Amino acid sequence: MKRHNAGDLPLSAPAGDGSGGKRAVEKEEEAEDKMDKYDKGRIRCSRLCFLFALAATVSILARHCYAAGLGRGGNAGVVRIEAVHASPPPPSVRQDRKIVPIARREPSVSDHSPSAPVDAGDDASWKPSASEPAASDNGGKTTSSKEKHSPSPPRGSKYGGRPFARALASADNKNDLCGGQYIYVQELPARFNKDMVQHCDKLSPWTDMCRYTTNGGFGPLLRGGKGAFQGTGAGWYDTDEHALDIIFHERIKRYECLTDDPSLAAAVFVPFYAGLDVARHLWGNNVSARDELALDLAHHIAGRPEWRAMGGRDHFFVAGRTTWDFRRKADGQAEWGSKLLNLPAAQNMTALVVEASPWHLNDVAIPYPTAFHPASDEDLFFWQDRVRALNRTHLFSFAGVARPGDAKSIEGRLVDQCKESPACALMECSTTGPDNKCESPASVMRLFQSSTFCLLPRAGTDTSRPAFDAVLAGCIPVFFHPASAYVQYSWHLPKSHTDYSVYIPEEDVRSKNASVEERLRKIPPEVVGKMRDAVVGLIPSVTYSDATSRLETTVKDAFDIAVAAVISKVTKLRRGIVDGRPEEEKIERYSWKYPLLGEGQKAEDPHEWDPLFN
Ligand SMILES: *[C@@H]1O[C@H](CO)[C@@H](O)[C@H](O)[C@H]1NC(C)=O
Ligand SMILES: *[C@@H]1O[C@H](CO)[C@@H](O)[C@H](O)[C@H]1NC(C)=O
Ligand SMILES: *[C@@H]1O[C@H](CO)[C@@H](O)[C@H](O)[C@H]1NC(C)=O
Ligand SMILES: *[C@@H]1O[C@H](CO)[C@@H](O)[C@H](O)[C@H]1NC(C)=O
Repeated sequence: MKRHNAGDLPLSAPAGDGSGGKRAVEKEEEAEDKMDKYDKGRIRCSRLCFLFALAATVSILARHCYAAGLGRGGNAGVVRIEAVHASPPPPSVRQDRKIVPIARREPSVSDHSPSAPVDAGDDASWKPSASEPAASDNGGKTTSSKEKHSPSPPRGSKYGGRPFARALASADNKNDLCGGQYIYVQELPARFNKDMVQHCDKLSPWTDMCRYTTNGGFGPLLRGGKGAFQGTGAGWYDTDEHALDIIFHERIKRYECLTDDPSLAAAVFVPFYAGLDVARHLWGNNVSARDELALDLAHHIAGRPEWRAMGGRDHFFVAGRTTWDFRRKADGQAEWGSKLLNLPAAQNMTALVVEASPWHLNDVAIPYPTAFHPASDEDLFFWQDRVRALNRTHLFSFAGVARPGDAKSIEGRLVDQCKESPACALMECSTTGPDNKCESPASVMRLFQSSTFCLLPRAGTDTSRPAFDAVLAGCIPVFFHPASAYVQYSWHLPKSHTDYSVYIPEEDVRSKNASVEERLRKIPPEVVGKMRDAVVGLIPSVTYSDATSRLETTVKDAFDIAVAAVISKVTKLRRGIVDGRPEEEKIERYSWKYPLLGEGQKAEDPHEWDPLFN
């Protein structure tokens, strides 16, 4: 397996999956049924697998494939890649960058409660099970030597002696610069995280994942990139799209407001590498192996004193894969995924995934990691300036491949349209082999930088990393289904999707043979300019920065936004409990709708996208 290929291909590859499953749902049960179908489509041998089998060089590989029941359906694709031209056309609008500075609180040791300056080493905030503090009877308060340095702890009597009273009170304490923002990192035995990285050779049956777990999950540093990132300094890595488990954990170790005191925490982070874990077993036919560690985790954390404060509803974790990898309903061998997100414990937590379910409330989508991890604001601004000023040769571009096996897929239509138009740059992805340009950050970034619009149809899964590559390249995304972005990344993308993207309903392309080029040409140049500015303005929000050497920053990145949103969610819940306000009852099957609601609207009200999610 090359990069995300083998391990992930079945996911992002063939399928009636993307289309089949997610569309027809009325009730929760139906949703589950659909999910099941949706998932089945994926359990077929990746073409890469098949290629490997063909090559028959490594019998172990072949065994893996077949053992996993993956032997069928591999059609080794032919590598066909069209050249991407890079040349000169109209100058693009240059505008002053719009960066919203945030009042980042200066972390000062004295103000900092407990563990703030944690950076004593790679593993500072992180203690393996051996050093787990014993559960104490004082409501989950762990003690730590660092606690001595804590400012006078808030009393929180007005919050009625709740377990989280001190946490709420700390937000009112104007002298505590981290007040209301503390994160407690749940201590977990090494088998839930560190061991997986240590045994990275076991993470995928096909690929050497050790390459992608380096540099705190960023992967190997990229240099040169044949012009794609030319002159943009460091900050480019060959990042695996599923490395978010590690990236997020590494980043949270450097969060400015960590605490060793759970009773002070605005939220509790559970550093379980759920995505890495499940990927080890997804293609194997041992269903219980897929659930083993998930069940272990649920048992472990639900027994902790920190959990009891709110039944885990202040806990969150990151699983850098799509939600469908964690929502297996039945136990048949042909069923896809683990059942992590169905576990009662996970029902109470917030799972941050790269693609959330439109019909469940316990997961939220956050951006896929791209190849860009700037270590300073300057590197980020420099890149924004660069993509804003680019001369874009093509009106639109498409990196994809026809998947004739999927009747509902519009990718074949888009390939055809792109081939027919001189205004389109096509990069036909192969799903096999080492030459797949679509797997190369440099090739994809070069393509996307060459065009004004980037076509992003659903391809196996509703969401995909290229949507974020497009934003990073300053290329205006063209989505064909709201599940590809608009109902997903509500924390990171603006509500008004027409400001930064173009929406062409799949059905228009499928049944009405709508011309994408025609639609795009109808957009006036000044509107295009505004949209591109909006896209370039989004770059910081969808970037996971490198915080290892960053001293101060004025920019909120994808991590900052996610953490702030989790904290805000938990705080709202807590204040509601204190005030005796019942929590807003949300209907699971409408979960996709909630972020879209305007003032006074209700989830039950009709929405133009209802048919797409029914
Ligand atoms: C399946 O996995 C479980 C948990 O890892 C293990 O105990 C069991 O022996 C496995 N079964 C088979 C048939 O390999
Ligand atoms: C989930 O939260 C609810 C409400 O706080 C609680 O009653 C329930 O016990 C929690 N579930 C678990 C598994 O802790
Ligand atoms: C874009 O094109 C304009 C006019 O052709 C030229 O002056 C400018 O230098 C070009 N910019 C870049 C970044 O190539
Ligand atoms: C779609 O329209 C194009 C021209 O706009 C035409 O060449 C093509 O044959 C049409 N395809 C179908 C399936 O109708």
